[in-house]
Amino acid sequence: MMTTPITAVIVGAGHRALTYASYAKKHPDELRIVGVADPAEIPKRKACDMFDLKPEQCFDSAEELAKQPKLADAVINGTMDHQHVSTALPLLEAGYDMLLEKPLAPSEEDMWTLVRAARKHGRRVMICHVLRYAPFYVGIRKKIEEGAIGKIINIQTTEHVSYHHMTVSFVRGKHGNSRHCHTSMLLSKCCHDLDLIAWIKNDAAPTAVGSFGSLMQFRPEMAPEGAGQRCLVDCPAEVEEKCLYSARKHYLDHPDRWSFYVWHDLQHIENPTLEQKEEALKREDNPYGRCVYHHDNDVVDHQSVNINFADGATATHNMVGGTAKGSRSIHIVGTLGEIRGCLEESRFVVRTIDPSPGNEFREEEVDLNQGGDMHGAFGGHGGGDLRLVGDFVRTLRGEPRSISCTDLEDSIYGHLLCYTADRAMEEHRVVDLPSVK
Ligand SMILES: NC(=O)c1ccc[n+]([C@@H]2O[C@H](COP(=O)([O-])OP(=O)(O)OC[C@H]3O[C@@H](n4cnc5c(N)ncnc54)[C@H](O)[C@@H]3O)[C@@H](O)[C@H]2O)c1
Repeated sequence: MMTTPITAVIVGAGHRALTYASYAKKHPDELRIVGVADPAEIPKRKACDMFDLKPEQCFDSAEELAKQPKLADAVINGTMDHQHVSTALPLLEAGYDMLLEKPLAPSEEDMWTLVRAARKHGRRVMICHVLRYAPFYVGIRKKIEEGAIGKIINIQTTEHVSYHHMTVSFVRGKHGNSRHCHTSMLLSKCCHDLDLIAWIKNDAAPTAVGSFGSLMQFRPEMAPEGAGQRCLVDCPAEVEEKCLYSARKHYLDHPDRWSFYVWHDLQHIENPTLEQKEEALKREDNPYGRCVYHHDNDVVDHQSVNINFADGATATHNMVGGTAKGSRSIHIVGTLGEIRGCLEESRFVVRTIDPSPGNEFREEEVDLNQGGDMHGAFGGHGGGDLRLVGDFVRTLRGEPRSISCTDLEDSIYGHLLCYTADRAMEEHRVVDLPSVK
C-alpha cells in the first residue's frame, strides 16, 4: 500500500537529531526531511547536504521556523537539554507534532509548562526514550505483560558509565557542569533508567523517593601527586604516563571514540590529522584537554535511588560512573519468578518458581541477538534509536500505539522520579512524588 511520507523539519541539527533524521534516508517512503533550523552554520550545512535542502528550507532557529507558515507535519527537536521547552513551545503553537530529545525539561515546573502547551494545542510529542525500543527491554516488558513472573515486587537496575564515557560526557563534557547544562547527572543520564522502571512497573504509581550520591572521584584531592591542569601542557610526563585519564590516552590513542564530542571544534576541517587533534587538546579553552581532577564539573559521579510504589512494590537504581566497562543491567522479582539480564548482552533469563518434586525453579533464556541486532540497522542504544523514529512516524500516521510508545504523557513519571530523587539527595530526606493529573 502506498502512503504519503510524514514530513519533518530538523530543529537543532546536532549529533542526535541527524541520527534520528537518517531514518528518512533508509525509509524515504515513510519520512521526508523538508527543512532545518539551527543557528550554527556547520550543522545546518551538514543537514542541507544530507537531505539536499535549498536555502529557502533553512532557518536560523526554532523560533524563526515557528514564525513561518507551517511547512511540515512534525519537527525533530535535538536542541540541548535546557532549550527543549523554549524551542518546543512556539513550534507546538505553530501546529507541529514533535519528536523531542530527553530530558523533556530541566525542571518539574518546565515539564508541566510543556505538558500544558501540548494539551492546549492538541499536539503529539514523543520523547526520545530510545531504550524502550531496544529489543532487550521490549522483550522484558512483553514477558511482564504476559504474566510470566506475576506481579512485580521489586526492580533493581544499574547503570555503569564507563571511565571514558563518564569523562567525555560528564567530567570534561557538555553535561558536567550543572550551571552550564542546567541538568543533573541523574536527569541527563538516568532519565532513561527511571523511565524504564516506571514503564515496566506500570500497574502502580511511584509515590516516594530517597536518594544518595556524591562527586567522589573527580575532584582535586583525588589527583595524582604533582598532576598539572592540562594533560598535554603542564602535567609532568611521569604523572601523565601513569594516569588512567590522560587526554592523550583517551583521545589521541582512540581518535575515533566519542569523536563527535571531542573533535567538535575541528568540524570545519575534513579529516583532521593527529597533529591537529593534539594541538586542539592543548588549547586553553578545550575542556577535553583538562585534567579530570582539576575540572569545573559539579555533577555527581555516582548516585543511588530508592523508590516506593503505591501497591507496596519497591525499586532501586544505581548509577556508577568511572567503571572499567559500561553496562546496564536489570533484575525484576515478581510473585511467580524473576527476570535478570544485561542490555549489552541483549539476553535475559526468566526464572520461575517450580516446587514440583525434584525441581526448584524453571529457567528460560531469551536471546535477542538471534535474529535481532544490537546496533547495526537500527542504530545505537541497543537498537532503539531508529526503531523509535519508525514508531513516531507510525503514530503520526494514526497507527495503534506500540508497547514502547513514549508519548509525553507516558514520560511524566520517569522525569518526576529524576526531579524528586535529586531533591531527596540534596535535602537528605525521603520526598513524596506529586500526584499526576
Ligand atoms: N536519547 C538519548 O539517549 C540521548 C543521547 C545523547 C544525547 N541526548 C540529548 O540530545 C540532545 C542533543 O544533544 P547533541 O549532542 O546532539 O547536541 P548538539 O550540541 O550536537 O546539537 C544541538 C544543536 O542545537 C542547535 N541550537 C541551539 N539553539 C537552537 C535554537 N534556538 N533553534 C534551533 N537549533 C538550536 C545548536 O546549534 C546545535 O547544532 C541533548 O538534549 C542531549 O541530552 C540524548
